[in-house]
Amino acid sequence: MTSNELKEAPFAFDDLVGRWSALSEAAPVRHDERQNLWQVLDHRSVAAVLADPATYSSDFSGLTPTQPDFETFRQGNFVGMDPPEHRKLRTLVSQAFTPRVVAGLEPRIHAITAELLDAVEDRDRFDVVDALAYPLPILVIAELLGVPASDRGLFQEWAATLFGGDEIGDALDMSDVERALEAIAPTVREMNGYILEHIRHHRKHPGEGLTSKLLEAEVDGVGMADQEIVGFVALLLVAGHITTTALLGNAVLSFDQYPEAAALVRADPGRLPDAIEEVLRWLPPFPELGRRTTREVELGGRTLPADSILMANLASANRDPARFADPGTFQVRRNPNPHLTFGHGIHFCFGAPLARLEARIALRQLLDRFSCITVPNRREVEFQNPAVIVSARRLPLEVRR
Ligand code: HEM
Repeated sequence: MTSNELKEAPFAFDDLVGRWSALSEAAPVRHDERQNLWQVLDHRSVAAVLADPATYSSDFSGLTPTQPDFETFRQGNFVGMDPPEHRKLRTLVSQAFTPRVVAGLEPRIHAITAELLDAVEDRDRFDVVDALAYPLPILVIAELLGVPASDRGLFQEWAATLFGGDEIGDALDMSDVERALEAIAPTVREMNGYILEHIRHHRKHPGEGLTSKLLEAEVDGVGMADQEIVGFVALLLVAGHITTTALLGNAVLSFDQYPEAAALVRADPGRLPDAIEEVLRWLPPFPELGRRTTREVELGGRTLPADSILMANLASANRDPARFADPGTFQVRRNPNPHLTFGHGIHFCFGAPLARLEARIALRQLLDRFSCITVPNRREVEFQNPAVIVSARRLPLEVRR
């Protein structure tokens, strides 16, 4: 095989992208007989679902198997809650995780990115997931929480066990949830114990970091229980880590696949924010969000019975020709870009400003340090299970300074 053929081999995502485009042209809502769930595919219906938590609930707690160690994580995990519990926790956490806190992280994100890239400074080949996309978000979350630098390795280990192994892939694939939960329970126990200890320390010695701010937050005189803080930290680790890893890898893949887009960004780095939005539209890390109907409801010309499970398909909504001009092309200058990759409504991604900031800093440093970045052999690229997350897990690059 010639080097050109290796370079041009299809990515595993190309199939997915084709499937999403086809879905965006199908009926807005359809029933999937095999999985007995409803697929919601067009932008208008997806946004309507996400905007109406009273009809489309995020609470699946009665439907998923329980595991005692995981129960400890449910309490602060407000992505799976409906109002009023959701509102209470999100308001509490918003007092601590403010735009100022995120903006204050900027110098540290620059420094951590530089440190990580210094480590591959003398190499002309490296895996960008290993070197940057995977460690950066986890180190930023550890920094945010004020975890001692010496313990950061622990966060990386937990993340690797929880999201790096096949267990979690199987779990989210719903093929053998109980077995998967059992396999990762010891890690969950260790994390739970560590975070509780971290909270106790901050109660005795309040500092400036997010943990101390979470301990101070109150609504109507009531603060967060320790266990709720543990659940929130676990949510940060899940929602804030693998998604950002995915975004960084997806940006590198898209720039490799559309070199003219990368050239536009190199020529004018001011285009990077719009380019990142287009990467988010093009390859959403979570292509679908699950909801459960609380009553019979009409949607997209269909009648969904009460207690139906539905998947709001962000990826096909992002390709809806009624909402996006020329949705099948990757355009770094697209603006406005009303993609739904961060969700919509009350659960809109809490960490979107942080994810965008990390992506801007990391991609800018990559482009500044290396005059040429390519994926030399697409067959070496490995992907996570796309039923879990649209993300590369191995992405070897060739670079020139
Ligand atoms: C919620 C995507 C990064 C924290 C969500 C939701 C989506 C999403 C789609 C809505 C879920 C739903 O409606 O069911 C993403 C993507 C990211 C990203 C694509 C990166 C590219 C982050 C980061 C953090 C974070 C960096 C925190 C450090 C959260 C939290 C929620 C959330 C706490 C729950 C919000 C709520 O339920 O009110 N995210 N996320 N995310 N995200 Fe993100």
